[in-house]
Order: sequence, then structure tokens, then C-alpha cells
Amino acid sequence: MRKAMTWLAAGGAFVLVMAACTPGGDDNGDDGDGEAGGELVWAIGGAEAQPGGVHQQVAELWSEQNPDNPIRIELLPEEADQQREQQALELQAEGSGFDVLGVDVIWTGEYSENGWVESLEDVRAEIEEASLPGAFESATWGGELWAAPYNTNAGFLYYRTDLVEEPPTTWADLCQVGVAAAEAAGIQPFIGQGAQYEGFVVNWLEYYWSAGGELYNEDQTEVLFDTELAAQVTQFMADAIAQGCYAPGFNTAQEEPARNEFQQGNVVFMRNWPYVYGLVNEDTGSPANGNFDIAPLPTVTGEGTISALGGFNNAVSAFSDNKDAAIDFVTWAATDPEPQTLLATEASVPPTMESVYEDLSDDPVMALLGEVLPDAKPRPPAPQWNEISVEMQRALHPAVNGQGDIQSAVESVRDFLEGTIE
Ligand code: GLC
Repeated sequence: MRKAMTWLAAGGAFVLVMAACTPGGDDNGDDGDGEAGGELVWAIGGAEAQPGGVHQQVAELWSEQNPDNPIRIELLPEEADQQREQQALELQAEGSGFDVLGVDVIWTGEYSENGWVESLEDVRAEIEEASLPGAFESATWGGELWAAPYNTNAGFLYYRTDLVEEPPTTWADLCQVGVAAAEAAGIQPFIGQGAQYEGFVVNWLEYYWSAGGELYNEDQTEVLFDTELAAQVTQFMADAIAQGCYAPGFNTAQEEPARNEFQQGNVVFMRNWPYVYGLVNEDTGSPANGNFDIAPLPTVTGEGTISALGGFNNAVSAFSDNKDAAIDFVTWAATDPEPQTLLATEASVPPTMESVYEDLSDDPVMALLGEVLPDAKPRPPAPQWNEISVEMQRALHPAVNGQGDIQSAVESVRDFLEGTIE
């Protein structure tokens, strides 16, 4: 399915020549405060930013169409927290090393408050018209647009169709069915994202939200954190580890290690993002290949489904020397059906452009996304989200792993949240 990667466009020498040959300004490049033309640098991470990945294909497509301003990916780490750290280092120093930033939906508030990203109000209308409302919302803060939607995200339950008949609808059922199926097959029941980082917070919240919990009220003026519910779901996760429902690697797994476990046939169930679907489907040597399907995530109550709303939008660095071209790129990546369709067809990465879903309604990943995205729940987009997340990781990760008192862990999270609204 995936096309072999041919990354020809933007070798350093080639770009220098291009920049030197471009006289004065042109429509794409000259923003009046620096270079005309020239290479753009797109700082983005994760599996699909690597050679052969779909973000590289999007960069290649743009570069072919815009030889004056080709774009190259500066590969960031796989893990969201580390990507943020690397971007923050450059932006705090007001460095012009990155023109376009792949910004997780939870960083919009922080980046805009820090003055790290350009306002995109000038191109707001066309971007708003093209994008899914939830994805568009995730790129705004304080009523202003700070990034162009690029890929949205929601968690799926992956399950082995050769080992279980029906996907479970509650987390308790998942453990029950999973333990029995795993025992029979000599593998492990479940893996998700249990390492101490943003992905753990996402996994924890999906339990907590699906039990009816909330962090704040809508306008974030009141803390609604329910310590009793929080303690219950934390206890559930601790028990799932103690009772062998979670695979032994759960507490150190991020997205990619979890994918590897599933792809190598070591687990019955996995919580992961849609990008995994395409990769397992392509791997004909995988025991899961041809033997898996996707379903909405289970809930605590068995009612409906809930997932954290994820995704990455493209922002323009406030310190870029090539802002006009960078704005053109992020607008194109949000509103042109070609790159948006590539995300879906080459990599099962969920696009943000509404019309692409209509055109791909026969695709199983897009069909399931159509079901779960409307219920996907945003993490509070507050500028202080990173600090809240780090506190949740610090308090809840040991508690889930049997290393801390659950009650005091959830109380400390509530106290921290209270501190954010005083
Ligand atoms: C995915 C999501 C992102 C989330 C991260 C957590 O990359 O798109 O929103 O923060 O996973 O690991």
C-alpha cells in the first residue's frame, strides 16, 4: 500500500543553489523580513515522520509543486513530551531553525501565549471551511487561529479476530475475555500506552471520562475532579497489572512499543491510534495481519464510547525567516485534498478535512473514525496543560503501578487542578 519513499527534493546543496538563484521576492517566499525562496524546515515527530512515512510523502509532494520553497522534515522524537521539549528549546531561544511546527492539539494555548507561533487569522476562513469542527477548535486559543489542522486522532481498540469473537464493550470484560484468550494462545491480554508520559495521561483519562468523570467545567472556572471515581479507575488499572491483564511491558510502553507487541502477535488487545492499522495491514509477516479488526474503545460503564481527541496541527514559528511560504504550506496541508487524502490512503492517519471522509467512506478506518470522532473528548487546551499532565503522570503513574497510595495520588491531582484556577 505504502509507496516506496523517494526523497529527492531538498538536499542542502540543492536548496542553497535554489536560494541563490531566486532574484528578489516571489509570491511564495518573501515576507519582507528575510530570505526570498529557500527551504522550509518542518519540525515533526512520530512514526510517520520517518523516511517512508506519510509526512515525508506530504513534504515531497509540496516540494515538487513548490521548487522555490521545498520543505524538509526535521525529525523529532517519537514521544509527544520529548517533541514538545525539543521545539520549546528552539523557540525559547527565538531560533529560526524551524519554520513549521507539528503542534500537538494540547500545546496550542501554551505556544500562542508564549508568542511562539504566528496568528493564522488571515487564512482563517478557508481553513475553517475545510476542516472538521473539532480539529479546527483544537487549533484555536482565545478565539484566534494559531495553527492549521493537519491530522486528527482518536483511540481505537485493536483486537485479534482469530482469538476473540466480539470486541468487548467494557474494560472489565476486556480483561476477562483477554486473560482467557491470551492463556489459550500463550500470549498476553492487553497493551496500551502505560509509560510515564502524555500517552499514559490519555489512557488514564479514557477510563476516567468513560466512568463519567470530568476535570473542569466547560469554561475552566471550576474543578470537577471526582476523587472517588479517579481512585476507582486507578485501582482498576492497578488490579489489571497485578492480575496480568496488562502485558508486563505496559508500564514502559509508548505508541510504538505497543504497536510492536501487537504486530508481533504478542497480545490479544491493544489501545492505539489509527496509524497502526495501515502498518499492521502492510506487514504480511505479522501474525496479526489478516487476523485483526478495530472497534470503538470500551468504557467503564459499557455505554457508548469515549476517546481522547488527539492530533497534530501545523503552526508557523514566530521566529521563521520565511513566514509567508510557511503559511502557504500549512494552509495547503489543511485545505488541499491531495495531501489530506494521502494521510488516509497511504497511512491510515486521520485527516482533518471534512470532504476527505465523504470520499473515503468505504475505508474501514475512516468509517470507524466517523463513529468515534464525534464523541472524542479534548483534553483542556489550557496553556498550563503540560504542567497538569506532568503532575498527573507524577502522581498517578506510581499509583497505577502499586507504588503509591491511590487516595493521596488522586487528592494531589485535585489540589493541583484547584491551583490552576485560583
Ligand atoms: C498522539 C496524539 C496526541 C497525543 C499523543 C500522546 O500522538 O495525536 O494528541 O498527545 O498521542 O502520546
